[in-house]
Amino acid sequence: MKKLALVCVAIAVIAGAWFLFQPKGQSLSAAQTSPLADGAMVAVVVPAQFTEQEQMGERAYEAKCAACHGANGQGQDGVAPPFVHRIYEPNHHGDMAFVLATQNGVRAHHWSFGDMPAVEGVTVSDVSNIVAYVRALQRENGIN
Ligand code: HEC
Repeated sequence: MKKLALVCVAIAVIAGAWFLFQPKGQSLSAAQTSPLADGAMVAVVVPAQFTEQEQMGERAYEAKCAACHGANGQGQDGVAPPFVHRIYEPNHHGDMAFVLATQNGVRAHHWSFGDMPAVEGVTVSDVSNIVAYVRALQRENGIN
């Protein structure tokens, strides 16, 4: 019984020490990962300013794309990929890819989210604003 008590005390001490050290480590990693709240897949730095076209794109994006692709192009775990990602840099997915994706939908190929359905009620000029917005986000995060 004594041995058991000793083991219990030892465990308590170790757990206590772990507990004391943990909060520091946690707050640090929380600070690093907090931009990843809400199922975001990447941390996105949002530009301080957007042009008028980019702002129109932002509004259209939020209305039509963000439900899947997440706020600020950050992606959404289990739903749709982030646009602030090398895969979608301009020379891999040019502006036309956004028009086609919106008009025709996308068959799943880069990820395992499943297909993207065509998006209703988005004009070509909406998409070009969305692309301007997405490119601004990409540039701010070093994806050119
Ligand atoms: C219902 C969810 C959903 C919505 C809404 C949505 N997407 Fe997607 N989108 C996806 C998924 C899932 C993929 C990933 C397909 C894959 O595996 O490559 C994707 C991929 C894309 C791609 C990559 C196409 C390619 O050629 O690889 C583009 C561009 C795109 N979406 C643009 C948009 C735009 C612009 C909007 C808003 C107008 C939008 N999406 C709205 C789910 C969505």
